[in-house]
Amino acid sequence: MALTDYETYLKIDDLLSLQKDPKDLITHDEMQFQIVHQVAEMWMKLIQFELKALVSLIDKNEIEKATLRLGRIRRIQKLLIDQLDILDTMSPKDYTCLRTVLGKGSGQESPSFQAIIRIPGKYVWPAVETLLDSRNVTLREIYDGIEEGREVKHFVLYHFLEALVDYDQLLQTWRYRHLLLVYRIIGEGTLTLKGKPTDLLAKSMKVRFFPELWNVRSEMFEDWSQKNSILNPY
Ligand code: HEM
Repeated sequence: MALTDYETYLKIDDLLSLQKDPKDLITHDEMQFQIVHQVAEMWMKLIQFELKALVSLIDKNEIEKATLRLGRIRRIQKLLIDQLDILDTMSPKDYTCLRTVLGKGSGQESPSFQAIIRIPGKYVWPAVETLLDSRNVTLREIYDGIEEGREVKHFVLYHFLEALVDYDQLLQTWRYRHLLLVYRIIGEGTLTLKGKPTDLLAKSMKVRFFPELWNVRSEMFEDWSQKNSILNPY
């Protein structure tokens, strides 16, 4: 039978042949395990694509458009976090069956994940620094310029930078949510497929993708504390 335009355009046959045939599944839950991972790979592919577009918008000084782009990325990141819920329904027992066919494969080897954690520091932040230099403004001036009830300076830049903080925060929220999933299914302190304790995953939670945007807050609060003698009241 001829394929419909829908099937042809979306390559449905190819897409649906990427999961194991039900009769070959090692356990019933293997189907959801494959689909959730494959869908996550697709979303991360889209994030990677949008991040590259973001860098070129920053380079072209199109900050409102760049902020819009980050809004799209934020929505995808939320989906990535939410879809981990589906795997909460997998029993630890089912995972042990599944693990026998996983070899030493691990999510850490996902090229898309590696890309979405690498692009911020390698390409996005350098583009932001060039932008701020070209506008002759510092992060501190932008953040000091926002105060309720007063005339707002650098609003567009502030809004854009906060969208970058959202990116950072949501990546780490994903990591945290994933860690809870790992604990729920294989326990805390268990050795991973690479022979390291799962607790090591918790260490990556300290990573900041745009550290400067976190530092500016600490700096502002520290200055305020000193002016108000909060840190050293005597
Ligand atoms: C049954 C559910 C899952 C379990 C038990 C699990 C387990 C693990 C473990 C133990 C690690 C540590 C690295 C290693 O294997 O040595 C890891 C890392 C990772 N997993 Fe999963 N995972 C699950 C679901 C997922 C899903 C749905 C994704 C979606 C993409 C994913 C993506 C990743 C990524 C990207 C890492 C690296 C994290 C980082 O470097 O911060 N995992 N996973």
